[in-house]
Amino acid sequence: MSGKHFTLEQLHALAVKARNHSHSPYSEHKVGSVIMLSSGEVLSGCNIENASYGGTVCAERVAIWKSVSEKGPRVHIKEVVVVVDAPKAWPPCGMCRQVIAEFATTETKVHTGNLQGIQKSFDFSEIFPESFQPNFLDK
Ligand code: THU
Repeated sequence: MSGKHFTLEQLHALAVKARNHSHSPYSEHKVGSVIMLSSGEVLSGCNIENASYGGTVCAERVAIWKSVSEKGPRVHIKEVVVVVDAPKAWPPCGMCRQVIAEFATTETKVHTGNLQGIQKSFDFSEIFPESFQPNFLDK
């Protein structure tokens, strides 16, 4: 989906909708995520669990992998929205933060909430300081 005019409320609504495709028979928590790229394009993801639990992937990473697969590796993430059906919003896990960092900018924001709405918003740099960056691999 594209268009530079998505409000946070609209992104939240899309993340709520993304939960519908969740495969989460083990945790019984349907998680939805939406990322907005700096181009204005929007992609969604849901958590996809596996009977071999380590094969589970979070909603955020599904949305990011879809964006790279569909748009190419030069995507920049502007907003990440995560929605869960719990009273208290869930922040992205450590692995998802590392994957967000790969495509983040200094402006990237993370919004967390539940079905009722967004509860907390963060600057990504605030929740993942001193991250491992691609330039550490320079020889
Ligand atoms: N999960 C997400 O999709 N995003 C998060 O930010 C945290 C956790 C998923 C993974 C698993 O399917 C379920 O939630 C319980 O950990």
